[in-house]
Amino acid sequence: MTRKKTGTTTRSKKSKKTIKNNDLSKKSAGKAVKTAKAAKPRIAVRRSPIHGRGVFAANDIAKGARIIEYTGDRISHAKADRLYADLHDGNSHTMLFAATDKVVIDATKRGGPARWINHSCAPNCEANEEGGRVFIDAIRPIKAGMELSYDYCLVLEERHTPKLKREHPCHCGARGCRGTLLGKKR
Ligand SMILES: C[S@@+](CC[C@H](N)C(=O)[O-])C[C@H]1O[C@@H](n2cnc3c(N)ncnc32)[C@H](O)[C@@H]1O
Ligand SMILES: [Zn+2]
Repeated sequence: MTRKKTGTTTRSKKSKKTIKNNDLSKKSAGKAVKTAKAAKPRIAVRRSPIHGRGVFAANDIAKGARIIEYTGDRISHAKADRLYADLHDGNSHTMLFAATDKVVIDATKRGGPARWINHSCAPNCEANEEGGRVFIDAIRPIKAGMELSYDYCLVLEERHTPKLKREHPCHCGARGCRGTLLGKKR
């Protein structure tokens, strides 16, 4: 099955904001690793130095390991717009993941722990879409206690002006942090 890399968020002035697959043409760099030796990835949700709650490795996680699925209610883009456009206007917080052009995973009310994973400009995970489902995979070895992160590559419909970037600040703390959750427009 083809795996597709995901990891973007999109927003217009009056549309919902979703973490979205914006990189459909690229093959995934992260391949799920299942070896007899690799321990099953375990995670813990707790307060994060980056933002709010975050997700942390509870044991060492091997590069390539499939860690967790991003779960929630599966809704249409139109429904997500109806539910969240007003809420997301002027607010950078989102728990929506656009899995495909048709399906948005809404983790706001019934989401799994993956919804707490924060963005980093130097991430240790990536989000991959497979058959409309979204999985978080390790892209490097992750030591127990480290916070999990992936690059949201937030892409909004409007121009990414300096003001818009400031309105979506990144607090990942990575060397080379780009200072904003917004990614490059394609
Ligand atoms: C899916 S939630 C992640 C969980 C979040 N920490 C919380 O407690 O709700 C995504 C939101 O968390 C915030 N966030 C995630 N990573 C961030 C970062 N590197 N810098 C600033 N805010 C971040 C943004 O508001 C983003 O829309
Ligand atoms: Zn950053």
